[in-house]
Amino acid sequence: MPATYTFLHACLFLWTSLVPWVTSVPLRRADACPGYRASNVKQTDGGITADLTLAGSECNVYGQDLHDLKLLVEYQTDSRVHVIIYDEDEQVYQVPDFVVPRPDGSTSADSSALEVSIEEDSFSFTVTRKSNREVIFSTKGSSIVFENQYLRLRTSLPDDPNLYGLGEHTDSLRLPTSGYTRTFWARDAGGVPQNSNLYGNHPVYYEYRAESQNSHGVLFLNSNGMDINIDNQNGQYLEYNALGGVLDFYFLAGPGPFDVSREYSEITQTPLMMPYWGFGFHQCRFGYTGVDEVAAVVQNYSNANIPLETMWTDIDYMDNHKVFTLGETFPLDKMRSFISELHSNDQHYIVMVDPAVAYQDYDAFNNGRDADIYMKFSNGTIYRGRVWPGVTAFPDWFHENTQEYWDNEFTTFFSTDSGIDIDALWIDMNEPSNFCVWPCEHPEDESSTTNIMTPPSRLLKRTEEKSITHVGTLLPPRQDDGSKHGLPDRDLLFPKYKIKNTFDVLSNKTVRTDLYHQGGWAEYDTHNLYGTMMSKTSHNSMLKRRPSRRQMVITRSTFVGAGTYVGHWLGDNISAWDQYVTSIRHLLQFVAFFQVPMVGADVCGFLGDTTENLCARWTTLGAFYPFYRNHNVAGAIPQEAYRWESVAAAARKAIDIRYRLLDYIYTAMHQQTVDGTPMLAPVWMHYPTDSATSAIETQFFYGPSLLISPVTEPDGTSVSFYLPDDVFYDLFTLKAMDGGGKSITYNDVEFTDIPVHIKGGSVIPARVNSANTTKALRDEDFELLIAPDKDGKASGALYLDDGDSVNQQGTSEIEFTFEDNTISVDGTFGYDTKNGVLSVTVLGSGDAQKYTLNEGLDGPWSHDLSSRKSQTLAK
Ligand code: GLC
Repeated sequence: MPATYTFLHACLFLWTSLVPWVTSVPLRRADACPGYRASNVKQTDGGITADLTLAGSECNVYGQDLHDLKLLVEYQTDSRVHVIIYDEDEQVYQVPDFVVPRPDGSTSADSSALEVSIEEDSFSFTVTRKSNREVIFSTKGSSIVFENQYLRLRTSLPDDPNLYGLGEHTDSLRLPTSGYTRTFWARDAGGVPQNSNLYGNHPVYYEYRAESQNSHGVLFLNSNGMDINIDNQNGQYLEYNALGGVLDFYFLAGPGPFDVSREYSEITQTPLMMPYWGFGFHQCRFGYTGVDEVAAVVQNYSNANIPLETMWTDIDYMDNHKVFTLGETFPLDKMRSFISELHSNDQHYIVMVDPAVAYQDYDAFNNGRDADIYMKFSNGTIYRGRVWPGVTAFPDWFHENTQEYWDNEFTTFFSTDSGIDIDALWIDMNEPSNFCVWPCEHPEDESSTTNIMTPPSRLLKRTEEKSITHVGTLLPPRQDDGSKHGLPDRDLLFPKYKIKNTFDVLSNKTVRTDLYHQGGWAEYDTHNLYGTMMSKTSHNSMLKRRPSRRQMVITRSTFVGAGTYVGHWLGDNISAWDQYVTSIRHLLQFVAFFQVPMVGADVCGFLGDTTENLCARWTTLGAFYPFYRNHNVAGAIPQEAYRWESVAAAARKAIDIRYRLLDYIYTAMHQQTVDGTPMLAPVWMHYPTDSATSAIETQFFYGPSLLISPVTEPDGTSVSFYLPDDVFYDLFTLKAMDGGGKSITYNDVEFTDIPVHIKGGSVIPARVNSANTTKALRDEDFELLIAPDKDGKASGALYLDDGDSVNQQGTSEIEFTFEDNTISVDGTFGYDTKNGVLSVTVLGSGDAQKYTLNEGLDGPWSHDLSSRKSQTLAK
């Protein structure tokens, strides 16, 4: 089985390029729909309400038109306005509040930066920025279509707009503006292809208007399958085509790009803080044969003198891939002693748990059946698919018993006293993935299934829709509170509007979309929430094991708001140079636009064989991902960092830099958890008015001050990168760069190196030395790197806490300022630390000057450096 895995990426490319797009009914018909007429319009200080009535005869373009709708406009904060168009009876499905809690708040129209105006006949709405009357969103000129299985709403946009977001995708960071479709339907997207729907869904976009120099954001809070088209035929537009739900929009006024991120975090809620150790270096692979091999890997890292913070184990530890079991080569006693050995060395351990439970007579399955938590047909039969262990059942995360079931499995299997004492958790396959190809009538028959290792000929075998038989009689959904659960009488398998799902029909290679979750939620409506529901449940179960400690759960599938529970790895990438490069734009979406900051791609690449040069470069780049993990597929050549001398050297160097800067990035993450300021950002967010930055996607800011510009050419050693018109210093030579606003080339960049530049105006706290573990790192003192701006000023921050507690009381939020050659420290000093600031190094146009200080971090201080002796650092 593992050997075939190496064929994988070729197969995937073939598959994704050959799937014929079945285009939808011509849009002309939707264009001809009558739209709605507004009546009973009430403008209040806090917003607008109106009734909307279909303005002509039904066009029923992809279903049944709804005649009577309601409009609600709410000015929620000075920078956020909510516009929702929903059915009068409130039967149509809406994203449940327990998945994405709706932000509340109300303010007056007067204090809002945005204004919503409507036209009554035919109905349209327009969102305008009041300060300059710029229209940021307008449905004028195209009719709204609101049917039981199809929504369409189009906004006009300025020509060639700067649009970002709308992920998860691996397409260009600045989205294409013509002939482009983004499809939202969670799928097991091995190979993370471009122009394809991937694991997660975040229908929010950020737009920058060059003319006004303002940014804004638009969230369409809808979990149904959808296509968002961006095109410029007959004028530039962005158009939503959804398979259901209501028209639920949040408009964010910015006006700076970082403001938009912060405002978005008020909707998603700010992300969860990760433990300090989570920023260490992680090693994983699929295909380790037993605990002995896993232990040997840990030993090899130690022998190679490469700091390994956390060892991981994939599904290999399970008995035939059954969750909550141990296989023969991973016996409990050996596992427990291996884990305690790790813990005694201040290292950590993580394993994977998949959602699908083997449909076999064993405890975890039987417990789930007894608690009645599996997804079922309406006749009570458990729905079965096929995942790693063979035939499986799928937990229904909406079921009231599922949390308790999951808690019990966790407290038993992951018991700290007698089980597998993991420090954090990895959850996967939660789109949910099903190897069983639609219609999946015989999941027990392996030949009717595929997984990502299947040859392309099999992947291309598609089933005719007409041959589908329905299993069981599907009853109408149970309506617990009678509202917002979904209209009856819909075709939940084959809606007439066909989104461009790379897997074709909605239910292909996932669970059937005509199943209902407990509470009456149709999988058709809630499919995109499965991963986030599993994330929330798993986070809670982990928290139950150790209530006072921070929980790190890394998931594959995400939805709006997932960052409050989990981090994310970017899925099954390929060990290829282009994917090393596209990992940057993939990653930035999550951190900067979606508020899921703990993110990283599989370093050295997952599918296929890596190469020494690629692995060295990726190990170096990965040191600047928030989540830094080497992971490899079964059957591929080994790629642990010690396998090649150059990669080992790259790892030692990269980890050294990462660890010395760990508190700097930890501080940036803390800031994101407080107010949503992204800890990593694309260059344009820092320099929005510089149009040369708008499409940069191979460079990024790590924290507020460090610009990372990796070599991107396959096997290359030179890189041309852009420095905006500002003061920059090279982190390694400590020299000021010669002028900005231009492209600069570095030649002879060793495979162990990566260009990093400090933005002028920054004070960067760094540990004086790196260490073997993050625990030891915390004993190291600090030094400050002062990189003045053109006025000779700089500032920076340092957040200190114990690195592990939830809701910790004693924390320090320290601010550094540098002005008139004086460095000052102020802030709050609640965290008891013996670490001090040994020195400051001031960069400038000449050689850097280092001043010894020996100061503490337990109270404010200030030093005028003019009168002090310094040491010249000539590099
Ligand atoms: C999925 C995951 C991958 C993992 C494999 C086996 O493909 O994305 O990371 O190694 O399953 O569990």
